[in-house]
Amino acid sequence: MTEAGIQPSDAPEAADVTSRDLFEKFDPLIAERDALLATGVRDPFAIVMDEVKSPTEAVIDGKDTILLGTYNYMGMTFDPDVIAAGVEALEKFGSGTTGSRVLNGTYIGHKEVEAALEEFYAMDHAMVFSTGYQANLGIVSTLAGKGDYVILDADSHASIYDGCFLGNAEITRFRHNNPEDLAKRLGRLPPEAGKLVVLEGVYSMLGDIAPLNEMVPAAKEHGAMVLVDEAHSMGFFGENGRGVAEAQGVIDDVDFIIGTFSKSVGTVGGFCVSNHPKTDFLRLVCRPYTFTASLPPSVVATAATSIRKLMHAGDKRAHLWENSKRLHKGLRDLGFTLATDEPESAILAVLLPDQEKAVLMWQALLDEGLYVNMARPPATPAGIYLLRCSLCAEHSSEQVEQILGMFEEAGRKTGAIS
Ligand SMILES: Cc1ncc(COP(=O)(O)O)c(C=O)c1O
Repeated sequence: MTEAGIQPSDAPEAADVTSRDLFEKFDPLIAERDALLATGVRDPFAIVMDEVKSPTEAVIDGKDTILLGTYNYMGMTFDPDVIAAGVEALEKFGSGTTGSRVLNGTYIGHKEVEAALEEFYAMDHAMVFSTGYQANLGIVSTLAGKGDYVILDADSHASIYDGCFLGNAEITRFRHNNPEDLAKRLGRLPPEAGKLVVLEGVYSMLGDIAPLNEMVPAAKEHGAMVLVDEAHSMGFFGENGRGVAEAQGVIDDVDFIIGTFSKSVGTVGGFCVSNHPKTDFLRLVCRPYTFTASLPPSVVATAATSIRKLMHAGDKRAHLWENSKRLHKGLRDLGFTLATDEPESAILAVLLPDQEKAVLMWQALLDEGLYVNMARPPATPAGIYLLRCSLCAEHSSEQVEQILGMFEEAGRKTGAIS
């Protein structure tokens, strides 16, 4: 008798025909990865943090390491108030909700974090998802269905593309950050069709920002609704930290803002905020909201506390800008090629000519005691290999100088700079 209660004699006969191996399509990628690891470099996609000491320091392989490759832009993960709120909720409400938001999974903490978001954005409605990925997947697929059009930047995040596929909408791509191309493509669509223009405030691979002040008016002229994903800009951009749409003065014309708790907020979760009067109805028809468990009480408590603190984080925002400017200039002066001519966000991408050079440099930095993200296609646009440096408001000015010293050392050792 097997575990499933089947007598061996009941087991189905093996079929004569051999089915295609479902893993076969990955063979070229597996071979490429094996060849790279055979050169003796470490796997950049298999790093383990043994200990995390602060938003900017961890122990990796027994070595103290400065973190320059996290999404912890505002350094909230070790904030004492945030931790205290999480501990209190854990003790009071238990470790998880064990249910969907629309059944038993909405606790008072989920309503409180939604209220904090409404206040943070000064908007009427907030809807919290279990991740930012699910927020994009859910909102894009629920709003734009068969016969509707999603007009998106070619470099959009995977969760936005996946939302289009789930909703079965028609996809129209425009050239990255190109308002003229957006307007041209909008002009070619049937005027009566439902249209959703999806933009991002900061594009996470190159760290460049979108000209939302040109794109949002273009979308509105063509009768489209506008969704802006502010995942990498929340907390940092704009007077109140609402993102690039606030910084560029167009937030009132944006229909939906999508964001995540996994970056500046410092925990996990996603959200959509909007002034649209029917937003709340989406809770009943949005599959990635309904058919999954809600966030644990400790997570929503930490998120609510963090969001409320981010409303008054002007000093942190100013220091993060200082860090970004200093690191950008220092890296350029050392001779590295960066993706943007000016520092545009908390992300600075150091471009390298190919995978081998990128991994060598990445490893040399790790040996120096610095962790950055190594990124490669398809995550990056146009076949680019890069080392993504993301700064934190908790990086001290001394740490930024130390980081520059490590780049200089590693760059000379690997020949990335002369
Ligand atoms: C632009 C953008 N949107 C959404 C997400 C998804 O966020 P989460 O990590 O909360 O799923 C990410 C994650 O990196 C992102 O970069």
